[in-house]
Amino acid sequence: MFLGLDIGTSGVKALLIDERGSAVGQAHAELTVQRPHPGWSEQDPDHWIAACESAIDELAKQQPEAMRQLRGIGLSGQMHGATCLGADDKPLRPAILWNDGRSAVECGELEERGDFRGIGGNIVMAGFTAPKLRWIEKHEPEIFAKIAKVLLPKDYVRLWLTGGHTSDMSDAAGTLWLDVAARNWSDKLLEATNLSRSQMPGLVEGSERSGILRAALAERWGVSEVPVAGGGGDNAATACGMGLTKPGTGFLSLGTSGVLFATTDRFAPNTEAAVHAFCHAVPDTWHQMGVILSAVDSLTWLGEITGKTGPELTAMLPERIEGPSAATFLPYLSGERTPHNAPDATGAFLGLQRGMTLPDLVHGVLDGVAFAFADCATALRDAGTSIDSAFAVGGGAKSEAWLRIAAAATGLTLLKPVSGDFGAAFGAARLGALAAGADPAEMLTAPAVEAEIAPDPTLTDAYADAYARYREAWSRLSN
Ligand code: XUL
Repeated sequence: MFLGLDIGTSGVKALLIDERGSAVGQAHAELTVQRPHPGWSEQDPDHWIAACESAIDELAKQQPEAMRQLRGIGLSGQMHGATCLGADDKPLRPAILWNDGRSAVECGELEERGDFRGIGGNIVMAGFTAPKLRWIEKHEPEIFAKIAKVLLPKDYVRLWLTGGHTSDMSDAAGTLWLDVAARNWSDKLLEATNLSRSQMPGLVEGSERSGILRAALAERWGVSEVPVAGGGGDNAATACGMGLTKPGTGFLSLGTSGVLFATTDRFAPNTEAAVHAFCHAVPDTWHQMGVILSAVDSLTWLGEITGKTGPELTAMLPERIEGPSAATFLPYLSGERTPHNAPDATGAFLGLQRGMTLPDLVHGVLDGVAFAFADCATALRDAGTSIDSAFAVGGGAKSEAWLRIAAAATGLTLLKPVSGDFGAAFGAARLGALAAGADPAEMLTAPAVEAEIAPDPTLTDAYADAYARYREAWSRLSN
């Protein structure tokens, strides 16, 4: 048995899989996000621990026999969150999360101070960790002076599980302090933020062992002192859950944020179009991502205004739409990363007419998010990636209409996996198995495909026109 633990933004998930990789049991615990100022997003790191404790306690209660056979643990989590610890390993302030936009000014400052694009492979974006530390240095100097270690969310949980300070390459790449090609901390990039290697955790590959479960926790859950794998950032871990570790494979995730992920066999940045170029969670492998900050969140926003849930809204559309909506929607409700790198961008509806009804607006939102994915697909192609198909995952992928629209807008064939759990916790459990000695070729397999949604040729021209309107709207509104 192997345990995957995913520290998400809205909750923690603990998932137990057997040696064949089948899910045996799972438990959840919720988390909330604190937003003390507009654009800020924080969590108390000790709430992650409390949520993990409660989810694993629950799993141990549900599956005592399976837990006794536990042989490895893997971690995954929301990326980029700045978790600053003092010399006593206690958090000095709440963690500043991936979707916190406070450090826009500091991003510009860091671009001047270090070769973050060349060595780190990425534009300095407000979501990443390094500019958050520059913000703390400027606005909370007394806290900055006390920082003994900066950890990422899942690595703070690892500290609790094993007592060690360690990160894995995929998550570490999202700090912007990693030399992504060399898979090692960059002293130059750390110096540019007045930090040093001694304040960073040690590094292992996601599939390597990072430490051993502490005896007290092993006893509490009735398990042995098993190895804990390096694990991965949630996107790299999700890719491991679907066996996407070879170039030419990828996924499109319609979650709160949207991600178009492609595996690469080398470090392949495209900073011009705000592509994320990170290490993968398995050795000698990298990945690119386009990240959309408000994907399903755009629909959630429309639902909050109209008193409906996302599924109620998508159910207003037929499965086979006949063409794009006449309403153009820009989904930049929380700013945007790929391709614009514009933390201050705002959303917009254009082309509204008196006769339009709520389903037209829903259709506009689904189209707008699909066009944001089309922008990501172009950015990845310009960085040398060629993917023709991608697994479709995330809550939004349950909508047949949205998948058809996304296929028409991006030109990608979307692969719907058979029902099952192939998310980040599943990938983390697989990494736990690899750290315990499992064979990667046997463990990192792709799920069976239930349906292939190819771009519908009858929609191609109309969607190309609507995409041109979307691009035009951004270029007018951003100037
Ligand atoms: C990736 C990113 C998000 C978070 C969400 O760069 O910021 O996908 O990892 O958990």
